[in-house]
Amino acid sequence: MSVHIGAKKGDIAPTVLMPGDPLRAKFIAENFLSDVVQYNQVRGMYGFTGTYKGHKVSVQGSGMGMPSISIYAHELITEFEVRNVMRVGSCGSMQPHIKLRDIIIAMAASTDSGINSHVFKGMNYAPTANFELLQKAYENALKHNITPQVGNILSSDVFYGDDPDEWKRWAKYGVLAVEMEAAALYSIAAKFRAKALTILTVSDSLVTGEELSSIDRQESFTDMMTIALETAIQ
Ligand code: HPA
Repeated sequence: MSVHIGAKKGDIAPTVLMPGDPLRAKFIAENFLSDVVQYNQVRGMYGFTGTYKGHKVSVQGSGMGMPSISIYAHELITEFEVRNVMRVGSCGSMQPHIKLRDIIIAMAASTDSGINSHVFKGMNYAPTANFELLQKAYENALKHNITPQVGNILSSDVFYGDDPDEWKRWAKYGVLAVEMEAAALYSIAAKFRAKALTILTVSDSLVTGEELSSIDRQESFTDMMTIALETAIQ
């Protein structure tokens, strides 16, 4: 048992998928995995281990934001020998060509967070995905007739910011979309030599103000899960 995860060593698979919402973790376990065992319910941040096509895979809620995912990613990697962490989440598009339901694979994660600037004493670290996971995920997507957008995203500390045009600064430099966790996940994985990747579905657009309906959300969610699970077992 670690501070925030009530599991024993061996309860958690070397590869963990991390949705933000713990109820999403439950949904994934119930709908995509077999032989599921729940290993965590501390703070309602559910974690499950099951099998996908005969391979052991875990799914752990991360919570929202970089402080929360940092705690779970840190403990998974350092206390439960997790080697691969794949965030599966949603994001807001910052580019006109990135549409609702598109799948984004985050090659890099820029951030407005103070966490890394504190660690690196004001210098700028570039949090990046693991190339092997990224390549496999991209190839798995194409195999399933999904064409993902691959590039830089923004991991932001604020959902309700003060300046409604703030995102345009990032958009100008080609950043594809905004979410709230990847930069911290990539940094922690790099620190402990684990592999990390973030796969996102576009749930809303800052460019047009549109949002996905819940039915559309479900369909693009299934595409994202196919990519993540096929990558998890390779
Ligand atoms: N901002 C931050 N995180 C998000 C968004 C957003 O617009 N959409 C989905 N996750």
